[in-house]
Amino acid sequence: MAMDDTPQLHGRVALVTGGSRGIGFAIASALLARGASVMIGGLRQENLDAARARLSELADEAAVETFAANVRSHRDVQRMIEGTVDRFGGLDILVNNAAVGFFREVADQPAEEWIETVETNLNGVFYCCRAAIPHLRRRGGGWIINVSSLAAKNPFAGGAAYSASKAALNAFSEALMQELRYDDIRVSYVMPGSVRTEFAGHHDGAGTEWKLAPEDVAQVVVDLIGHDRRSLPSRVELRPSKPRK
Ligand SMILES: NC(=O)c1ccc[n+]([C@@H]2O[C@H](COP(=O)([O-])OP(=O)(O)OC[C@H]3O[C@@H](n4cnc5c(N)ncnc54)[C@H](OP(=O)(O)O)[C@@H]3O)[C@@H](O)[C@H]2O)c1
Repeated sequence: MAMDDTPQLHGRVALVTGGSRGIGFAIASALLARGASVMIGGLRQENLDAARARLSELADEAAVETFAANVRSHRDVQRMIEGTVDRFGGLDILVNNAAVGFFREVADQPAEEWIETVETNLNGVFYCCRAAIPHLRRRGGGWIINVSSLAAKNPFAGGAAYSASKAALNAFSEALMQELRYDDIRVSYVMPGSVRTEFAGHHDGAGTEWKLAPEDVAQVVVDLIGHDRRSLPSRVELRPSKPRK
């Protein structure tokens, strides 16, 4: 890595799921700023259009593309991965960021919420990885970075579905890391604490300045990619320095 510690990603192609808002948007911005071409995935076309307009102000318009795909659908995911490779010529970096959270006690949780949580936060990551791996291998290596949560190791009442989905994602990530490391595909997962986004319908107002910013998570993603290929930081816990007491 260069002395200024900033990995340059010119010629690299990234796909960021859930890149239209929040943490995914910040990750897409950071990768673009370092020269990567970036496909952002998301559910709603209007959010993707808005994100694309904002990202086009930061970088060459030709370096940004969007793809509306539901990660709960393996067919959608296959199309999104193929669409990325068709558009930019390959794939080097997969960031599995899209997720949902429904916070309710188990006794009151509709089965639909449990199913959507597991299908999005776990099955969706499996579909994306499975479809991406042949393309990453074709490039001779790459990165898979999964956005997990500290909720995976700190379960709480009302968070059973979310914590369980993220704990399973951690186990998945560690197994996949061992499967792919000798192909020079480096699998890592990031576990942020509270981040100021609109996740699960939250609207962070005054008094939430202690939370992480989406850019803090994006910085970790960039740092992971910048590591010398000799070393593999496979799990990162990222906390607000001074959480509310
Ligand atoms: N915010 C936090 O406090 C926090 C803390 C720790 C970890 N995390 C993790 O960080 C990641 C990003 O969270 P965030 O706070 O940035 O969330 P967010 O603001 O709610 O954004 C979620 C993104 O995921 C997309 N998405 C949701 N369901 C999808 C599906 N089925 N298929 C495709 N895309 C889908 C959304 O698309 P649309 O725009 O179309 O809805 C949006 O782009 C998640 O993995 C979350 O678990 C968040």
